[in-house]
Amino acid sequence: MFPGRDLSTLPKVECYRELADQLRGLIEHERDPVANLANAAALIFHALPDLNWCGFYLLRGEELVVGPFQGRPACIRISLGKGVCGVAAAQRQILRVPDVTQFPGHIYCDPNSRSEIVAPLLRDDVLFGVLDLDSAQLDRFDADDERGLEKCAAIVAARL
Ligand code: SME
Repeated sequence: MFPGRDLSTLPKVECYRELADQLRGLIEHERDPVANLANAAALIFHALPDLNWCGFYLLRGEELVVGPFQGRPACIRISLGKGVCGVAAAQRQILRVPDVTQFPGHIYCDPNSRSEIVAPLLRDDVLFGVLDLDSAQLDRFDADDERGLEKCAAIVAARL
């Protein structure tokens, strides 16, 4: 399957297996982190259904700075511990938010966003940033998405 194809017709677990294979194939021979992050954001955005934003925030000192992404222009800097991204980064844990209006301190970039999932980019316990996905659908992300995106984040972090 060519990278960038919509994988949403596959059963979810298979979709994430295929996505992980494509992601590895796309970035394993390139050492430039911007190139790898840009291709990873585009691949995931086009592979998964019902996303309105997919991209990276990178740790720069005590804050996250927006990196390569697909979607509407986003807020540039997020302090650690603030918003969904900042909390996931500070806790170094994947964070799934079924309804962003119920998350205290959620930062709106696209007003259409209703649910969100954020996976930390960790390699050997070092935090590089986060992978952030937004959807205009309430409760868009489930436990399969969580496992699949955790794997994607690990593949990307290994190439930074
Ligand atoms: N909603 C995020 C901000 C980033 S955007 O969704 C692209 C947050 O609360 O951290």
